[in-house]
Amino acid sequence: MHNLKKLNLDSLELNYKTVVTQINHLIEEENDITAILSNVSSALKETFNFLWVGFYLIKNEELVLGPFQGPVACFRIKKNEGVCGCCWKEKKTIIVPNVDKFPGHIACSSLSKSEIVVPIFKKNDVFAVLDVDSKLLNQFNVIDKTYLEKIVRLIEKKLT
Ligand code: SME
Repeated sequence: MHNLKKLNLDSLELNYKTVVTQINHLIEEENDITAILSNVSSALKETFNFLWVGFYLIKNEELVLGPFQGPVACFRIKKNEGVCGCCWKEKKTIIVPNVDKFPGHIACSSLSKSEIVVPIFKKNDVFAVLDVDSKLLNQFNVIDKTYLEKIVRLIEKKLT
């Protein structure tokens, strides 16, 4: 691998390790889910300056906008609609390198170019999704997936 690329990936991983530790400490003493999701979205937005970081929570068989940081977003998303609705249906993380090439992508901001959505489980059901949008194409890779999933596992511990 090219040295510069490796250096960038190393620093991305280092930043994620720091933010995972920060989030772990932050939420240790708190059990209110709205408060937790609010500070998790803030920690990720402040660390990586992503365009949008936030949560959609399942309420009455729809995803409803929850705590987030970034531009205003759509309130509700149906199952299997957009990247978030697909993540809910498929129960797995979805990385979209180019949102224009994802059929049915819901464009909340025209600035969003790539996206990652991670499911959050309560018992065996999807409870919510973590959605992260970037102004850059191809922003998200396996490091983002690994560490965002680690962060989601920390949130899930608060749901049991
Ligand atoms: N792009 C998402 C919608 C949510 S916003 O990006 C905040 C989707 O296609 O599900």
